[in-house]
Amino acid sequence: MTDRHQDDNPVAGRQATRQVPPTPDRLRRVLGHFATGVTVVTGLDAEHEPVGFACQSFSSVSLEPPLVLFCADHRGRSWPRMRDTGTFCVNILRHAQQDIVDRFGSPTGARFEGIDWHLSPYGAPALPGVLARVHCAVEAVHASGDHDVVVGRVQDLELVQAGRPLLFYRGRFAVTERVRSAAQVEVTGGWDDFWG
Ligand SMILES: Cc1cc2nc3c(=O)[nH]c(=O)nc-3n(C[C@H](O)[C@H](O)[C@H](O)COP(=O)(O)O)c2cc1C
Repeated sequence: MTDRHQDDNPVAGRQATRQVPPTPDRLRRVLGHFATGVTVVTGLDAEHEPVGFACQSFSSVSLEPPLVLFCADHRGRSWPRMRDTGTFCVNILRHAQQDIVDRFGSPTGARFEGIDWHLSPYGAPALPGVLARVHCAVEAVHASGDHDVVVGRVQDLELVQAGRPLLFYRGRFAVTERVRSAAQVEVTGGWDDFWG
């Protein structure tokens, strides 16, 4: 019930017709228009073997306390193995690191072999040549549909190598143009030299 006349209804005539249901294919296609960076989330399993997977669903959550999150598919093999260790590292990839995504986003093939990684003081593999690393302890895990939403408490952050970010947009990788106009920096409010 409403006590408004139809003529007073502020949304009258503005209601679009409903679309078809949000199938996985539509979700992928439409949500793929939200461009993200690309990370590799790494950790150790119970046998201290390095594990990691390509991950775009990384986000900051809170500044105080410092929290971040990522979402991990229940069918994935890496996340359940690193979960018990309680520690992970988010390696934020540079534009020239698509080969790293190919390794860590593929269900087959070697991931750490031939990569000069080291173990961080926080107990997770750190990948070389990345833009930045975020070292985290697992704070909370929320099962949500077919994914876990993993909240991490940030222990430390590192800026590793300057450069442009690797972007993922509409199911493809993109590399940003380097733009160095003072006006651009002012408009975006970013830091100077923000494309490295
Ligand atoms: C660009 C890109 C982004 C991805 N983002 C995610 C993600 O956010 N969460 C996820 O669970 N899988 C994501 N994946 C898929 C996993 O990396 C992929 O399924 C991987 O094979 C899982 O490895 P695992 O079985 O060892 O966990 C992404 C893959 C690519 C290529």
